[in-house]
Amino acid sequence: MLEKIKETSKFLQEKVSIQPEIGIILGSGLGGLGNKIENATAISYSEIPNFPVSTVEGHSGKLIFGTLGGKNVVAMQGRFHFYEGYGMKEVTFPVRVMHFLGVKSLIVSNAAGGLNPEYKAGDIMIICDHINYFPENPLRGKNFDDLGTRFPDMSKVYDEKYIRNAEKIAEENNIKLRKGIYIGSTGPTLETPAEYKMFRILGADATGMSTVPEVIVAHHQGMKCFGLSVITNESKPENPEEETTHEEVQNVAGVAEPRMTKIIEELIKTM
Ligand code: HPA
Repeated sequence: MLEKIKETSKFLQEKVSIQPEIGIILGSGLGGLGNKIENATAISYSEIPNFPVSTVEGHSGKLIFGTLGGKNVVAMQGRFHFYEGYGMKEVTFPVRVMHFLGVKSLIVSNAAGGLNPEYKAGDIMIICDHINYFPENPLRGKNFDDLGTRFPDMSKVYDEKYIRNAEKIAEENNIKLRKGIYIGSTGPTLETPAEYKMFRILGADATGMSTVPEVIVAHHQGMKCFGLSVITNESKPENPEEETTHEEVQNVAGVAEPRMTKIIEELIKTM
């Protein structure tokens, strides 16, 4: 695996002159941020050796190198989900590559179902902690000590300074922010009412199908992490008459996009 990561990093370094310090996974709610990257070089995943190819509707696959808020960044437009059939090593491969490109901070976004009864569709939540409810851990298997330690501490995964700065930015821009715990599980099914209830009892505020694997790997490599969830639907396990569609998830994420983009653009300037 290490050889593949190095081969891919070398390929990218030969193609782009920029050395990124910040990695961004443009999940739901941040799709448009890719267009704001200046001096951009975009490389399609299909051109990149060893990269899996994204299959899900609404996620096009390319890496975008450039500058944002005066910082050198590399952004993933389209991520790899465990539910698509990829293994954890594939899902997290781009984050490994980012490390070899020099990335020190990772920003991620996702769509999530609200479990906290106070949360409303369209709310934005800072992820302050997570629960790995996937049946796998991306660090399972041989540990490469050059990348990170065998038994990573997970007490402070989401950077406290980034969280404070994001809260300040939101306040200055009159953006309401939630702060809560994200539980990541396999999907692609949404949860049954009983599962939503269970996730709430486990202590989570929002549930989704991504982010946890990438953040584990980023943290393993010593990257500082920051994550935003857009709450696209309310779980209401006691009153489950409303169905949730993928279209609705994408629409609500689109509505939240200008607010999410603003926070991230400003946050990057403080990084
Ligand atoms: N559950 C899991 N993932 C999701 C949801 C949900 O309710 N909404 C958006 N992504």
